[in-house]
Amino acid sequence: MKRILTYGTFDLLHYGHIEILRRAKALGDYLIVAVSTDEFNAIKGKKAYHNYETRKKMLEAVRYVDLVIPENNWEQKKNDVTEYKVDTVVMGSDWEGNKNFESLKEICEVVYLPRTEGISTTKIKNDLNLQEPINGLNQIPNN
Ligand code: CTP
Repeated sequence: MKRILTYGTFDLLHYGHIEILRRAKALGDYLIVAVSTDEFNAIKGKKAYHNYETRKKMLEAVRYVDLVIPENNWEQKKNDVTEYKVDTVVMGSDWEGNKNFESLKEICEVVYLPRTEGISTTKIKNDLNLQEPINGLNQIPNN
């Protein structure tokens, strides 16, 4: 049983999130998602649209996700890997080289997957502020 762990806020769950969850799960058998709590987001200067409980419930409804746990601080990652017997930590390529993930290479495999282009929570928030799409329906590029 190969166990995979990934981290994120996963606010306004979107296609880029689904894609990283699908590809992360495909690397093993059991996928754990550590989701930033509202308190941790406040420390990072971020505010999610959906609160932690809602983001957790939405992720639990995704077929690739086996377990959702809270991400409360920057320091818990090594403990998570040990406690949940994680083989591989997966992150989007925007995190490549980040010391918090690089240091995990001492205790598990760390894999960075390319981000899905053309979508992010920030983009959705910005686009919705415009009230209507700029060019009709937003198309996710095939990849
Ligand atoms: N992710 C991805 N492709 C995207 C958006 C996110 O692969 N288009 C990945 C990130 O690299 C990360 C995980 O999804 O590993 C959770 O990312 P998160 O920061 O919650 O989502 P974003 O849409 O990037 O949010 P924001 O715009 O607030 O940074």
